Amino acid sequence: MGSSKSLMIALALFAGLLAGAMAEDPYLFYEWNVTYGTLYPLGVPKPGILINGQFPGPVINCTSNNNIVVNVFNHLDEPFLLTWAGIQQRKNSWQDGTLGTMCPIQPGKTTPTNSRSRTKSVATCISPPPNSTEPPAALEFAVVLGDWYNKDHVALKSILDSGRSIGRPDGIHINGKSNHVGSPPWRRTLATVEAGKTYRFRVCNAGLRLSVNFRIQNHTMKLVELEGSHTVQNVYDSLDLHVGQCLSVLVTADQKPSNYYFVVSSRFSKQVFTTLAVLSYKDGFGHAESTLPSPPPENEQKSIAWSMNQFRSFRWNLTASAARPNPQGSYHYGKINITRTIRVVNSRAQVNGKLRFGINGVSHVDSETPLKLAEYYGVSNKVFTYDLVKDEPTNVDKLVVAPSVINATFRNFVEIIFENREKTIQTWHLDGYSFFAVAIEPGRWTPEKRKNYNLLDAVSRHTIQVYPNSWAAVMTTLDNAGMWNLRSDMLERSYLGQQMYVSVLSPELSLRDEYNMPPTQQICGIVQNLPMPAPYS
Ligand SMILES: *[C@@H]1O[C@H](CO)[C@@H](O)[C@H](O)[C@H]1NC(C)=O
Ligand SMILES: *[C@@H]1O[C@H](CO)[C@@H](O)[C@H](O)[C@H]1NC(C)=O
Ligand SMILES: *[C@@H]1O[C@H](CO)[C@@H](O)[C@H](O)[C@H]1NC(C)=O
Ligand SMILES: *[C@@H]1O[C@H](CO)[C@@H](O)[C@H](O)[C@H]1NC(C)=O
Ligand SMILES: *[C@@H]1O[C@H](CO)[C@@H](O)[C@H](O)[C@H]1NC(C)=O
Ligand SMILES: *[C@@H]1O[C@H](CO)[C@@H](O)[C@H](O)[C@H]1NC(C)=O
Ligand SMILES: *[C@@H]1O[C@H](CO)[C@@H](O)[C@H](O)[C@H]1NC(C)=O
Repeated sequence: MGSSKSLMIALALFAGLLAGAMAEDPYLFYEWNVTYGTLYPLGVPKPGILINGQFPGPVINCTSNNNIVVNVFNHLDEPFLLTWAGIQQRKNSWQDGTLGTMCPIQPGKTTPTNSRSRTKSVATCISPPPNSTEPPAALEFAVVLGDWYNKDHVALKSILDSGRSIGRPDGIHINGKSNHVGSPPWRRTLATVEAGKTYRFRVCNAGLRLSVNFRIQNHTMKLVELEGSHTVQNVYDSLDLHVGQCLSVLVTADQKPSNYYFVVSSRFSKQVFTTLAVLSYKDGFGHAESTLPSPPPENEQKSIAWSMNQFRSFRWNLTASAARPNPQGSYHYGKINITRTIRVVNSRAQVNGKLRFGINGVSHVDSETPLKLAEYYGVSNKVFTYDLVKDEPTNVDKLVVAPSVINATFRNFVEIIFENREKTIQTWHLDGYSFFAVAIEPGRWTPEKRKNYNLLDAVSRHTIQVYPNSWAAVMTTLDNAGMWNLRSDMLERSYLGQQMYVSVLSPELSLRDEYNMPPTQQICGIVQNLPMPAPYS
């Protein structure tokens, strides 16, 4: 980001997809005030960003096919955008909350017409299915955890803008708190449970960099949901969760009434951070025992193998999902012929002495005019060049810095291979879609590897991790028209270029395939004085 004007914060939004039988396609309205506040999960106060005074922000309680309208009031002194991480927007990339699709919400102070600026975001929840039989759970707990930097976002941004890495985080928090054995009890309680009851924990890794593993002393966890898809209900002692990922587990309070540690530790990082919270039985007594449940193997190779095996154990629950095909309508995805294979290779390099990250040799940079608007107003050639990223990468060690957009054909069934030749783990997120995560393996991908794909019950999800020197394959039908961001879920990497956009235009430009640009859409950049294109019909 060249200009200092475009100081941008994008928060990922993890919606708690809470279940329940509901009326047809209801609308849910939310009002969110975005303000600064002081946060100190690791004890060091720093300015942080709050939504309605809370960190982590409020939970959106929705189910499939809900329409969610969020009015966001930016009370900060800098532009702001919110992007959807846990909800799939259909036919509406206009409000996807990325700089390639929307103008940032300007700070209240500088908005000419109003004391506050606002934007509306309409999203459609896709999951879980409205009439699915949800596992019984007495109560739900939302757990947002992740790594934490004691430097504030302004300091972190200036490090990145100067072309350096923000380095390692300072610790891990669980719902904004960080504790060790011996921390005062009032700081630690994550959940109070009643003996005999079963609880659902929705856990999201909202960190910037670190994968984590989480586990609960003396309790097992039954996985029931992964990024909106019902899973085969396997039981785990501990689960890996990579940046940007969310899942739900059921935990039955079947132990002696007491206190038990909920343990989170970092994975695949040289320095291991461990943070605790407490699962507390009502009327329980006694302290949580200081012997913590062990993490997965620490030897790097074993650790990766362990985590890959766990990934392979995640299966789509065909019984629970059968009432409704996935949004792409490709329930029998294994029978669809692949129409395009895109290999995505991440890399890092110095460009003019500054650190950049890229995809297939292209390091994305945002333009002042959102790409979607440039395309819609017919001036894309003034803003970006299509297809700098090729499906078959050649030289990925040298990076070209430019806005990065590939064209895709509406309704193509594509296979995306994420190839990680680096020594650090990656996580990826595709907006607007869920995809079938059919394989993760060490080494390099070749077409013969397709024999090993899970073509029956891979989980339909919207993030995928890629281990060091490994690859991952996903498949999806490109049936959601729009300009969709494919990015590293690790903020440093996406900010410094490891992202691109996929332009999916329906040939008819019809309302059936894509909503019209909303009347509330803010216009910025070179399209500001251009005549409005004819709406879709
Ligand atoms: C947001 O702030 C305005 C005042 O600035 C207030 O009227 C409104 O109630 C707030 N909304 C929420 C949800 O906190
Ligand atoms: C979520 O919404 C459903 C349906 O409106 C309601 O029954 C449930 O109590 C809500 N859950 C939370 C945690 O707000
Ligand atoms: C938890 O499990 C450990 C190991 O099996 C056992 O020694 C301990 O007594 C259990 N704690 C409680 C409170 O039941
Ligand atoms: C699939 O989901 C249903 C409904 O939640 C559940 O009853 C069933 O046990 C699950 N199947 C498996 C194999 O876990
Ligand atoms: C779920 O709803 C769909 C349509 O609303 C209906 O066709 C289907 O039978 C329902 N499935 C179950 C398990 O109730
Ligand atoms: C897939 O491709 C094969 C071989 O080209 C062809 O025989 C088959 O009909 C195709 N299937 C579908 C569903 O298009
Ligand atoms: C990409 O789409 C644009 C807009 O429809 C079109 O002008 C361009 O020719 C396409 N490029 C390729 C390589 O398909």
